[in-house]
Amino acid sequence: MKLFLDSAKTDEISRALDIWDIDGLTTNPKHVQASGKPFRTVISEIAELFAGTDKPISVEVNPHLTQWEDIVAEGRELAAFSPNFVIKVGASEQGFKAVRELTAHGVRVNATLIFSVAQAWHAARAGAAFISPFLGWKDQHGDISREFIPEVRAMLDNFGYSSEIIAAAVRNSGQIAESALAGAHCVTAGEAVFRDSFANPYTTMGEQIFQNAWDATPEH
Ligand code: E4P
Repeated sequence: MKLFLDSAKTDEISRALDIWDIDGLTTNPKHVQASGKPFRTVISEIAELFAGTDKPISVEVNPHLTQWEDIVAEGRELAAFSPNFVIKVGASEQGFKAVRELTAHGVRVNATLIFSVAQAWHAARAGAAFISPFLGWKDQHGDISREFIPEVRAMLDNFGYSSEIIAAAVRNSGQIAESALAGAHCVTAGEAVFRDSFANPYTTMGEQIFQNAWDATPEH
């Protein structure tokens, strides 16, 4: 399973590229806002960080665009910034038409804001390179996300669709594990979620036990 950082902060991204060797990046309008920089400035800076790699960077079109022609026009403009860019398009009737058109023009698309298998199926049919089921948002609003990735994966496998699943809005190590076990191709989460996933209380306890043993050994 590929590890994508969900961020638009260049310092975080540089560190994650360096220390974690992340496989790609996802951004969204909230992350761009949190970067404190204008949209086109920040995506250009991010593109620079990934220059010379084949790692995908998901960049979202203006979320106010509702007509497929406008989504396609902006998607093609953004895709011209960098060969790494994958264009994020929200799930909707017009959005799926835009996915089909962008894909036909050779632009890779990440179908985002996916909350049902039916939406994931429309995205796959339209040729989306990536499909992003949002786990955390489902749980937050009273749904149970546990079966979502297995179901989307089963649907893709039933028909041999080549879209890759990005388990998105992932909030904890348990969701990372569930996504991996269910065959998500990629997982995206914020820095803090991945940082937590490196640790485990038993590891901390074990290190303490071994350090005590080391210290109690008469000679090294
Ligand atoms: C994924 O591509 C999204 O950017 C992301 O996971 C959105 O959810 P969040 O910002 O609430 O985590």
